[in-house]
Amino acid sequence: MNYTASPQRYQEMEYRRCGKSGLKLPALSLGLWHNFGGIDNFENARNILKLAFDKGVTHIDLANNYGPPAGSAEETFGQVLKKDLKPYRDELVITTKAGFYMWEGPYGEWGSKKYLVSSLDQSLKRMGLDYVDIFYHHRPDPETPLEETMAVLDLIVRQGKALYVGISNYSATDTEKAIKILNDLGTPCLIHQAKYSMFDRWVEGGLLDVLETNGTGCVAFSPLAQGLLSNKYIKGIPADSRAASGRGNGALEQNRITEENVNKVIKLNDLAAQRGQNLAQMALSWILKDPRITSVILGVSKPEQLTDSLECLKNTSFSESELHEINSILA
Ligand SMILES: NC(=O)c1ccc[n+]([C@@H]2O[C@H](COP(=O)([O-])OP(=O)(O)OC[C@H]3O[C@@H](n4cnc5c(N)ncnc54)[C@H](OP(=O)(O)O)[C@@H]3O)[C@@H](O)[C@H]2O)c1
Repeated sequence: MNYTASPQRYQEMEYRRCGKSGLKLPALSLGLWHNFGGIDNFENARNILKLAFDKGVTHIDLANNYGPPAGSAEETFGQVLKKDLKPYRDELVITTKAGFYMWEGPYGEWGSKKYLVSSLDQSLKRMGLDYVDIFYHHRPDPETPLEETMAVLDLIVRQGKALYVGISNYSATDTEKAIKILNDLGTPCLIHQAKYSMFDRWVEGGLLDVLETNGTGCVAFSPLAQGLLSNKYIKGIPADSRAASGRGNGALEQNRITEENVNKVIKLNDLAAQRGQNLAQMALSWILKDPRITSVILGVSKPEQLTDSLECLKNTSFSESELHEINSILA
């Protein structure tokens, strides 16, 4: 049956301006790193994407290497776009990235012009798109001059293959340099995509200040530390969890489910209950309390997780004593 988007889709989502740009993103976005690959169930992936759009999640985050196998998440998305979402293309912000390993030889990863131009062309084909809304350089390249990598981002925008560009996993210092080069080229750095959760607070050590000063947005990834910041691992490792999946490719491994982490999770879970939330919801609200965060990217394996996580928007403010308690649990 043909899909028709919910007429209520814009009623509950909050949209935040991305830095000082004209673009607004939903406070909660959907990422296709895991659960949308060729090894995953297509109908489940399709249901999650349709539900997300019905709930106002207009921003879908991809990368060339998402799967597994690499490239297959873009293919899955391309199929869902073709079957269901194509009439809504102008209501969607679709992103992709390149930087990690994609193909053999010297041109299949990092930050050269040769790699980035070819990779984006491949991504557009896999998704059946003429352009993406945001193209990211996925990780800094210690060998390619930053001027070359930033010039490719500028080129891609001028060619009409991306509307905006961003960077991901860059340090605060490298981010400052990249922003300056892009400004000089006339293509501003729209956004930085950074790992940020209660368990990984590196962005607080300078990156968020650099982004705010320069009017660049920030989108947070792995907000639940890949599921660790939920109540799912309190009583062991469930068979259908990411930690049990052995997916590789950076996915959560069982050695992260330590007694120390689980003890913190139990205390955070109690605090979340006092706020009328579950831990996953509180962990998302905690990131969104900072207005410098444009959006938080959710990774979900089931539609119910998406419904559950969206509830976090009902309470994104924290009292001083709650923040103090969270800091002491995490210390
Ligand atoms: N730029 C980069 O380098 C980079 C790197 C990593 C990720 N990302 C982006 O960020 C996105 C999100 O990353 P992530 O998947 O690591 O995010 P995450 O939110 O930290 O982890 C997602 C996992 O948490 C569990 N989960 C989600 N909602 C839940 C809920 N309400 N209750 C209980 N458990 C819940 C699920 O685990 P189960 O699968 O066990 O059910 C889900 O697969 C990616 O898809 C990608 O788009 C970017």
